[in-house]
Amino acid sequence: MRKIILDVDTGSDDAVAIMTAILSRELELLGVTTVHGNLPLPYTTDNTMRVMDFMKSKIPVYQGCPYPLVQDLTPGRRVNADEVKHDTIIDGKVVAVHEKELPLPPAVSGVQEEHAVPWLWRTLKYANEKITLIPVGAMTNIATVLRMDPTVAEHIDEIICMGGGIHVHNRSYRSETNFYNDPEAAKIMLNCGVKVTVVTLDATHSSWFGYEEVNELRRIGTKEAEFAAQMLYHRIYAANLIGARAEKKSALHDVLAVCAAIDPSVLTDVRHESCDVDIGGHIADGALMVSSRYRYSRPENPTYIAYQADRDKLFAMLCRYLARGEKI
Ligand code: BDR
Ligand code: CA
Repeated sequence: MRKIILDVDTGSDDAVAIMTAILSRELELLGVTTVHGNLPLPYTTDNTMRVMDFMKSKIPVYQGCPYPLVQDLTPGRRVNADEVKHDTIIDGKVVAVHEKELPLPPAVSGVQEEHAVPWLWRTLKYANEKITLIPVGAMTNIATVLRMDPTVAEHIDEIICMGGGIHVHNRSYRSETNFYNDPEAAKIMLNCGVKVTVVTLDATHSSWFGYEEVNELRRIGTKEAEFAAQMLYHRIYAANLIGARAEKKSALHDVLAVCAAIDPSVLTDVRHESCDVDIGGHIADGALMVSSRYRYSRPENPTYIAYQADRDKLFAMLCRYLARGEKI
Protein backbone atom coordinates (compact mmCIF):
# COMPACT_ATOMS: atom_id res chain seq x y z
CA MET A 1 0.00 0.00 0.00
CA ARG A 2 1.17 3.50 -0.84
CA LYS A 3 1.69 5.61 2.30
CA ILE A 4 0.10 9.03 1.91
CA ILE A 5 -0.63 12.20 3.86
CA LEU A 6 -3.57 14.30 2.68
CA ASP A 7 -3.38 18.08 3.26
CA VAL A 8 -6.84 19.64 2.92
CA ASP A 9 -8.84 22.88 3.11
CA THR A 10 -12.08 20.95 3.46
CA GLY A 11 -14.77 22.20 1.41
CA SER A 12 -16.97 20.05 -0.73
CA ASP A 13 -14.46 18.36 -3.05
CA ASP A 14 -11.87 17.85 -0.30
CA ALA A 15 -14.53 15.97 1.65
CA VAL A 16 -15.10 13.50 -1.19
CA ALA A 17 -11.32 13.19 -1.65
CA ILE A 18 -10.90 12.25 2.03
CA MET A 19 -13.63 9.60 1.68
CA THR A 20 -11.95 8.22 -1.44
CA ALA A 21 -8.58 7.95 0.32
CA ILE A 22 -10.14 6.18 3.33
CA LEU A 23 -12.20 3.75 1.22
CA SER A 24 -9.42 2.88 -1.24
CA ARG A 25 -7.40 -0.23 -0.35
CA GLU A 26 -4.41 0.92 -2.33
CA LEU A 27 -3.58 3.82 -0.04
CA GLU A 28 -2.50 3.89 3.60
CA LEU A 29 -3.65 7.28 4.89
CA LEU A 30 -1.21 8.07 7.71
CA GLY A 31 -2.89 11.31 8.71
CA VAL A 32 -4.75 14.35 7.48
CA THR A 33 -3.48 17.92 7.92
CA THR A 34 -5.72 20.97 7.58
CA VAL A 35 -4.87 24.38 6.15
CA HIS A 36 -6.54 27.72 5.36
CA GLY A 37 -8.00 28.18 1.89
CA ASN A 38 -11.57 27.53 0.88
CA LEU A 39 -12.56 28.84 4.28
CA PRO A 40 -10.74 30.15 7.35
CA LEU A 41 -8.79 27.39 9.13
CA PRO A 42 -11.28 26.77 11.98
CA TYR A 43 -13.95 25.93 9.39
CA THR A 44 -11.74 23.76 7.18
CA THR A 45 -10.67 21.84 10.30
CA ASP A 46 -14.23 21.45 11.59
CA ASN A 47 -15.40 20.26 8.17
CA THR A 48 -12.55 17.75 8.08
CA MET A 49 -13.49 16.40 11.52
CA ARG A 50 -17.12 16.09 10.41
CA VAL A 51 -15.99 13.91 7.50
CA MET A 52 -13.71 11.75 9.67
CA ASP A 53 -16.52 11.13 12.18
CA PHE A 54 -18.98 10.44 9.37
CA MET A 55 -16.50 7.81 8.12
CA LYS A 56 -16.03 6.48 11.67
CA SER A 57 -12.33 6.94 10.98
CA LYS A 58 -9.69 7.12 13.73
CA ILE A 59 -7.02 8.41 11.37
CA PRO A 60 -5.50 11.45 13.14
CA VAL A 61 -6.15 14.99 11.95
CA TYR A 62 -3.64 17.78 12.67
CA GLN A 63 -4.48 21.45 12.30
CA GLY A 64 -1.96 23.49 10.33
CA CYS A 65 -1.35 27.05 9.20
CA PRO A 66 -4.13 29.65 9.37
CA TYR A 67 -2.62 32.15 6.95
CA PRO A 68 -0.47 32.24 3.81
CA LEU A 69 3.29 32.75 4.30
CA VAL A 70 3.32 36.44 3.37
CA GLN A 71 0.71 37.11 0.70
CA ASP A 72 -2.07 38.58 2.79
CA LEU A 73 0.35 41.09 4.36
CA THR A 74 0.33 43.06 1.14
CA PRO A 75 -2.88 45.03 0.84
CA GLY A 76 -4.73 44.17 -2.33
CA ARG A 77 -3.01 40.83 -3.03
CA ARG A 78 -5.90 38.98 -1.39
CA VAL A 79 -8.48 39.56 1.27
CA ASN A 80 -7.36 38.56 4.74
CA ALA A 81 -7.66 34.79 5.15
CA ASP A 82 -10.09 35.39 8.01
CA GLU A 83 -12.39 37.20 5.66
CA VAL A 84 -12.47 34.57 2.95
CA LYS A 85 -15.98 34.55 1.66
CA HIS A 86 -17.37 31.83 -0.46
CA ASP A 87 -20.94 32.82 0.22
CA THR A 88 -22.74 34.28 -2.71
CA ILE A 89 -26.14 35.81 -2.15
CA ILE A 90 -28.46 35.21 -5.07
CA ASP A 91 -32.06 36.37 -4.75
CA GLY A 92 -31.55 36.49 -1.00
CA LYS A 93 -30.40 32.86 -0.98
CA VAL A 94 -26.91 32.07 0.33
CA VAL A 95 -25.18 29.93 -2.27
CA ALA A 96 -21.77 28.61 -1.30
CA VAL A 97 -19.67 26.03 -3.11
CA HIS A 98 -17.84 25.44 0.17
CA GLU A 99 -20.14 25.46 3.18
CA LYS A 100 -18.73 26.67 6.49
CA GLU A 101 -20.47 23.63 7.94
CA LEU A 102 -20.72 20.60 5.70
CA PRO A 103 -24.19 19.04 5.88
CA LEU A 104 -22.94 16.31 8.25
CA PRO A 105 -23.45 15.82 11.99
CA PRO A 106 -21.18 18.02 14.13
CA ALA A 107 -17.85 16.35 14.91
CA VAL A 108 -17.55 14.68 18.29
CA SER A 109 -13.88 13.77 17.82
CA GLY A 110 -11.18 16.31 18.42
CA VAL A 111 -8.29 17.40 16.27
CA GLN A 112 -4.83 16.36 17.57
CA GLU A 113 -3.06 18.67 20.01
CA GLU A 114 0.14 18.74 17.94
CA HIS A 115 0.39 21.30 15.12
CA ALA A 116 0.40 19.83 11.60
CA VAL A 117 3.84 21.18 10.67
CA PRO A 118 5.89 19.55 13.46
CA TRP A 119 3.87 16.37 12.95
CA LEU A 120 4.64 16.43 9.22
CA TRP A 121 8.34 17.02 10.01
CA ARG A 122 8.52 14.16 12.53
CA THR A 123 6.57 11.74 10.36
CA LEU A 124 8.71 12.42 7.29
CA LYS A 125 12.03 12.63 9.17
CA TYR A 126 11.65 9.21 10.78
CA ALA A 127 9.70 7.48 8.02
CA ASN A 128 10.91 3.93 7.39
CA GLU A 129 9.63 4.15 3.83
CA LYS A 130 8.94 7.10 1.55
CA ILE A 131 5.63 8.91 1.86
CA THR A 132 3.51 10.59 -0.85
CA LEU A 133 2.11 14.02 0.04
CA ILE A 134 -1.22 15.01 -1.53
CA PRO A 135 -1.84 18.71 -0.85
CA VAL A 136 -5.23 19.89 -2.15
CA GLY A 137 -5.47 23.29 -0.44
CA ALA A 138 -3.07 26.20 -0.04
CA MET A 139 0.48 24.74 0.06
CA THR A 140 1.38 26.58 3.29
CA ASN A 141 1.88 23.52 5.54
CA ILE A 142 3.99 21.72 2.94
CA ALA A 143 6.15 24.77 2.23
CA THR A 144 6.68 25.46 5.93
CA VAL A 145 7.97 21.96 6.70
CA LEU A 146 10.20 22.05 3.58
CA ARG A 147 11.70 25.36 4.70
CA MET A 148 12.00 24.23 8.33
CA ASP A 149 14.08 21.21 7.29
CA PRO A 150 14.79 20.69 3.57
CA THR A 151 16.26 17.24 4.31
CA VAL A 152 12.76 15.82 4.80
CA ALA A 153 12.46 15.92 1.00
CA GLU A 154 14.57 12.72 0.98
CA HIS A 155 11.67 10.90 2.63
CA ILE A 156 9.01 12.14 0.18
CA ASP A 157 8.24 9.70 -2.63
CA GLU A 158 6.23 12.25 -4.65
CA ILE A 159 4.05 15.28 -4.13
CA ILE A 160 0.76 15.04 -6.04
CA CYS A 161 -0.78 18.48 -5.67
CA MET A 162 -4.08 19.86 -6.93
CA GLY A 163 -3.23 23.34 -8.14
CA GLY A 164 -2.51 25.68 -10.99
CA GLY A 165 -4.14 26.06 -14.37
CA ILE A 166 -2.57 26.51 -17.80
CA HIS A 167 -5.58 27.33 -19.94
CA VAL A 168 -8.23 27.06 -17.20
CA HIS A 169 -8.33 29.43 -14.23
CA ASN A 170 -10.80 29.98 -11.40
CA ARG A 171 -9.42 32.79 -9.25
CA SER A 172 -8.08 35.50 -11.51
CA TYR A 173 -6.99 35.95 -15.12
CA ARG A 174 -4.24 33.37 -14.74
CA SER A 175 -4.45 31.75 -11.33
CA GLU A 176 -6.11 28.80 -9.65
CA THR A 177 -7.43 28.95 -6.07
CA ASN A 178 -4.90 26.77 -4.21
CA PHE A 179 -1.86 28.45 -5.75
CA TYR A 180 -3.53 31.88 -5.50
CA ASN A 181 -4.22 31.34 -1.79
CA ASP A 182 -0.46 31.13 -1.10
CA PRO A 183 1.73 31.77 -4.16
CA GLU A 184 5.00 31.74 -2.22
CA ALA A 185 4.15 28.37 -0.69
CA ALA A 186 3.35 26.91 -4.10
CA LYS A 187 6.70 28.21 -5.39
CA ILE A 188 8.62 26.60 -2.53
CA MET A 189 6.80 23.30 -3.04
CA LEU A 190 7.46 23.24 -6.81
CA ASN A 191 11.16 23.96 -6.34
CA CYS A 192 11.94 21.55 -3.48
CA GLY A 193 13.63 18.97 -5.74
CA VAL A 194 11.04 16.25 -5.11
CA LYS A 195 9.04 14.81 -8.00
CA VAL A 196 5.86 16.92 -8.14
CA THR A 197 2.84 15.95 -10.21
CA VAL A 198 0.66 19.02 -10.67
CA VAL A 199 -3.01 18.14 -11.16
CA THR A 200 -4.18 21.34 -12.83
CA LEU A 201 -7.61 22.75 -13.50
CA ASP A 202 -7.07 21.74 -17.12
CA ALA A 203 -7.02 18.12 -15.99
CA THR A 204 -9.86 18.44 -13.48
CA HIS A 205 -12.13 20.30 -15.88
CA SER A 206 -11.45 17.68 -18.56
CA SER A 207 -13.02 15.18 -16.14
CA TRP A 208 -15.94 17.05 -14.63
CA PHE A 209 -19.38 15.64 -13.96
CA GLY A 210 -23.04 16.58 -14.39
CA TYR A 211 -26.45 15.72 -12.98
CA GLU A 212 -26.37 12.29 -14.62
CA GLU A 213 -23.37 11.41 -12.48
CA VAL A 214 -25.24 12.75 -9.44
CA ASN A 215 -28.01 10.21 -10.16
CA GLU A 216 -25.49 7.41 -10.75
CA LEU A 217 -23.84 8.12 -7.39
CA ARG A 218 -27.26 8.09 -5.70
CA ARG A 219 -27.97 4.64 -7.14
CA ILE A 220 -24.87 3.18 -5.42
CA GLY A 221 -26.85 3.07 -2.15
CA THR A 222 -24.19 3.85 0.46
CA LYS A 223 -24.19 6.83 2.81
CA GLU A 224 -20.84 7.93 1.43
CA ALA A 225 -22.11 7.85 -2.14
CA GLU A 226 -25.23 9.74 -1.11
CA PHE A 227 -23.08 12.44 0.51
CA ALA A 228 -20.81 12.65 -2.55
CA ALA A 229 -23.91 12.98 -4.76
CA GLN A 230 -25.14 15.80 -2.51
CA MET A 231 -21.78 17.58 -2.78
CA LEU A 232 -21.62 17.20 -6.54
CA TYR A 233 -25.21 18.37 -6.97
CA HIS A 234 -24.57 21.43 -4.81
CA ARG A 235 -21.40 22.31 -6.69
CA ILE A 236 -23.15 22.10 -10.04
CA TYR A 237 -26.11 24.11 -8.80
CA ALA A 238 -24.02 26.77 -7.03
CA ALA A 239 -21.55 27.23 -9.86
CA ASN A 240 -24.35 27.39 -12.34
CA LEU A 241 -26.48 29.75 -10.27
CA ILE A 242 -23.67 32.26 -9.73
CA GLY A 243 -23.01 32.15 -13.43
CA ALA A 244 -19.54 30.71 -13.01
CA ARG A 245 -20.24 28.69 -16.13
CA ALA A 246 -23.03 27.84 -18.47
CA GLU A 247 -22.40 24.10 -18.43
CA LYS A 248 -24.23 22.21 -15.71
CA LYS A 249 -21.02 20.44 -14.66
CA SER A 250 -18.59 20.57 -11.77
CA ALA A 251 -15.13 19.15 -11.22
CA LEU A 252 -14.30 17.18 -8.06
CA HIS A 253 -10.76 18.56 -8.27
CA ASP A 254 -9.22 17.01 -5.16
CA VAL A 255 -10.65 13.55 -5.90
CA LEU A 256 -8.56 13.45 -9.10
CA ALA A 257 -5.36 14.07 -7.13
CA VAL A 258 -6.16 11.16 -4.77
CA CYS A 259 -7.10 8.84 -7.67
CA ALA A 260 -3.85 9.78 -9.43
CA ALA A 261 -2.00 8.44 -6.38
CA ILE A 262 -3.88 5.13 -6.75
CA ASP A 263 -3.63 4.80 -10.54
CA PRO A 264 -1.47 7.39 -12.37
CA SER A 265 -3.00 6.29 -15.69
CA VAL A 266 -6.12 8.30 -14.75
CA LEU A 267 -4.02 11.29 -15.87
CA THR A 268 -3.83 11.02 -19.65
CA ASP A 269 -1.70 13.96 -20.78
CA VAL A 270 1.23 14.54 -18.41
CA ARG A 271 4.19 16.63 -19.56
CA HIS A 272 7.62 16.96 -17.94
CA GLU A 273 7.92 20.73 -17.97
CA SER A 274 9.91 23.26 -16.03
CA CYS A 275 7.51 25.40 -14.07
CA ASP A 276 7.26 28.09 -11.44
CA VAL A 277 4.66 30.31 -9.79
CA ASP A 278 4.31 34.07 -10.13
CA ILE A 279 4.67 35.85 -6.77
CA GLY A 280 4.62 39.31 -8.23
CA GLY A 281 1.48 40.29 -6.42
CA HIS A 282 -0.12 41.75 -9.49
CA ILE A 283 -2.55 40.53 -12.10
CA ALA A 284 -0.81 37.13 -12.50
CA ASP A 285 -0.30 36.56 -8.77
CA GLY A 286 -0.19 32.82 -8.10
CA ALA A 287 -0.17 31.89 -11.78
CA LEU A 288 1.49 28.59 -12.72
CA MET A 289 3.98 29.23 -15.52
CA VAL A 290 5.40 26.34 -17.58
CA SER A 291 8.09 25.93 -20.18
CA SER A 292 9.25 22.81 -21.96
CA ARG A 293 12.50 24.58 -22.82
CA TYR A 294 13.43 27.42 -20.50
CA ARG A 295 14.58 25.80 -17.30
CA TYR A 296 14.43 28.90 -15.11
CA SER A 297 14.11 26.79 -12.02
CA ARG A 298 16.81 24.35 -10.94
CA PRO A 299 17.51 21.72 -13.67
CA GLU A 300 16.48 18.98 -11.28
CA ASN A 301 13.01 20.51 -11.04
CA PRO A 302 11.15 17.27 -11.76
CA THR A 303 7.70 18.68 -12.27
CA TYR A 304 5.05 16.81 -14.24
CA ILE A 305 2.08 18.86 -15.38
CA ALA A 306 -1.20 17.02 -15.93
CA TYR A 307 -3.32 18.57 -18.65
CA GLN A 308 -5.97 15.90 -19.18
CA ALA A 309 -7.65 13.11 -17.25
CA ASP A 310 -9.70 10.05 -18.16
CA ARG A 311 -13.16 11.12 -17.03
CA ASP A 312 -14.76 7.68 -17.30
CA LYS A 313 -11.90 5.99 -15.45
CA LEU A 314 -12.06 8.63 -12.70
CA PHE A 315 -15.81 8.21 -12.24
CA ALA A 316 -15.50 4.40 -12.25
CA MET A 317 -12.80 4.60 -9.55
CA LEU A 318 -14.92 6.99 -7.44
CA CYS A 319 -17.99 4.72 -7.72
CA ARG A 320 -15.91 1.65 -6.85
CA TYR A 321 -14.60 3.19 -3.65
CA LEU A 322 -17.89 4.77 -2.57
CA ALA A 323 -19.62 1.41 -3.09
CA ARG A 324 -17.39 0.01 -0.31
CA GLY A 325 -19.11 2.37 2.13
CA GLU A 326 -21.93 1.74 4.56
CA LYS A 327 -25.11 0.53 2.88
CA ILE A 328 -28.13 2.76 3.44
C1 BDR B 1 -9.18 23.92 -5.62
O1 BDR B 1 -9.63 25.04 -4.87
C2 BDR B 1 -10.57 24.63 -3.89
O2 BDR B 1 -11.68 25.45 -3.96
C3 BDR B 1 -10.92 23.19 -4.15
O3 BDR B 1 -11.10 22.51 -2.91
C4 BDR B 1 -9.72 22.68 -4.91
O4 BDR B 1 -8.75 22.18 -4.01
C5 BDR B 1 -9.65 24.08 -7.03
O5 BDR B 1 -9.12 25.25 -7.59
CA1 CA C 1 -9.25 21.76 -1.69
